[in-house]
Amino acid sequence: MLKSKEIFVCRSCGYETPKWFGRCPSCGEWNTFEQSVPLASAPAVRNSKPVSVSPIGEISADEDVRCQTGISELDRVLGGGLVQGSLVLLGGDPGIGKSTLLLQVCQQIAQKQRVLYVSGEESARQIKLRASRLGVTAENLLVLSCGDLDTILATIRQEKPQTVVIDSIQTMTLSSVASAAGSVTQVRECTNVLLSAAKENDITIILVGHVTKEGNLAGPRVLEHIVDAVFHFEGEEHHAYRILRAVKNRYGATNEIAVFEMHDNGLRQVENPSAMLLSERPTAVSGSCVVCVLEGSRPILAEVQALVTKSGFPTPRRMATGFDYNRMQLLLAVLEKRAGYFFGTLDAYINVVGGLRLDEPACDLPIALALVSGLRDRPIPADLLAIGEIGLGGEIRTVTRLEDRIREAERMGFRKVIVPASGLEKLQQKKFGIRIIGASGIMEALRALAETSPKAHNQEDA
Ligand SMILES: Nc1ncnc2c1ncn2[C@@H]1O[C@H](COP(=O)(O)OP(=O)(O)O)[C@@H](O)[C@H]1O
Ligand SMILES: [Mg+2]
Ligand SMILES: [Zn+2]
Repeated sequence: MLKSKEIFVCRSCGYETPKWFGRCPSCGEWNTFEQSVPLASAPAVRNSKPVSVSPIGEISADEDVRCQTGISELDRVLGGGLVQGSLVLLGGDPGIGKSTLLLQVCQQIAQKQRVLYVSGEESARQIKLRASRLGVTAENLLVLSCGDLDTILATIRQEKPQTVVIDSIQTMTLSSVASAAGSVTQVRECTNVLLSAAKENDITIILVGHVTKEGNLAGPRVLEHIVDAVFHFEGEEHHAYRILRAVKNRYGATNEIAVFEMHDNGLRQVENPSAMLLSERPTAVSGSCVVCVLEGSRPILAEVQALVTKSGFPTPRRMATGFDYNRMQLLLAVLEKRAGYFFGTLDAYINVVGGLRLDEPACDLPIALALVSGLRDRPIPADLLAIGEIGLGGEIRTVTRLEDRIREAERMGFRKVIVPASGLEKLQQKKFGIRIIGASGIMEALRALAETSPKAHNQEDA
């Protein structure tokens, strides 16, 4: 047999090469190559017996067997519960609350199943301390502090749990793989082995994966290809809110989100995120406007704030948190050119409240209104909301699922909504308990806004 030579593997995409590169020829990332050794030999093919195969017509297409976690928001994001025999990855920054969430999930499913929680990061005592704080006491929850995957697999075979949590995949090692825990090769091989374990034993395995600071799971794409579902747990360090997002899901829709709030005794699901995100909204302060974003199947209201002040610098500062910086520049340009509002010598800041990210075109109009409101220092009525994409000509373009968005605004007690005029016709056959104002351009929207703000009647525009 040939002596195994050293190879280099890209941390980002898993590309393998015998030569080191500064930049990955496959994914284009810089400085992602790490030294590795190829697997000792090609995996040997066992001498297996053939199995019987059935015509496709005879295969039962019954629903997957799902285990509900009892946390309804989580179940919704999962697509109805954890699917038996699946390998699931939960990714997120260190400290975001992955272990907390999974311990709470373990507590729930251990009411009906045998569950094994394996931690390669904490001792059994540390797990116990955390569990006590979270009120996790289920009898059927077994705990193992171990990073040696061979031992863990043997334990799984012996204890026969139906659900296993591996916290985290970066701390696991297979003795047959000669590279360090956390390296691409080790992470990938461990994941592969766990995938077969999940399928062979028909058990659910949940992996925790820490995200590198670039926002990637170590060996991310490789890992995301192997597993059945990928969920990201996100949030701002100093906010209590956490968002669980389905990134890939073989058993459900992606882009579904669930919102949680971190408390001393663990994470609590937030069933009404709009109410939460709007709860601290200041009244009668300029620059604040409400947007409606679609997170998966569900419309969520959130607050965006704009602050416009005189600049102390030759080049005014522009900053956007939770919104695309270039899109903000573009909106400012459209406001100048199409509506005559000049931000030239002014600093402008945009902030999306609650750590949400607005990537949808539907947020253009509310952000533009917030900017103008900030510029003129005139508050937007608290019961008004705006939805629409803004084009370069200052035109307001229609957005997807307008009706769902308006319904959410209605549910949250809003009284007026400015929408793209082109979407009005479709809405006319329906009944709404909210006043719908159509606008075809940015000027029209600003006029409608002025008409709904009582103060604007006696104040003349600057
Ligand atoms: N003793 C404690 N009391 C209250 N909250 C705690 C305590 N310890 C940790 N936390 C909370 O839990 C978070 C860590 O969650 P954890 O589940 O360990 O994250 P991860 O597994 O994603 O690294 C901390 O950021 C903190 O908000
Ligand atoms: Mg942890
Ligand atoms: Zn690469």
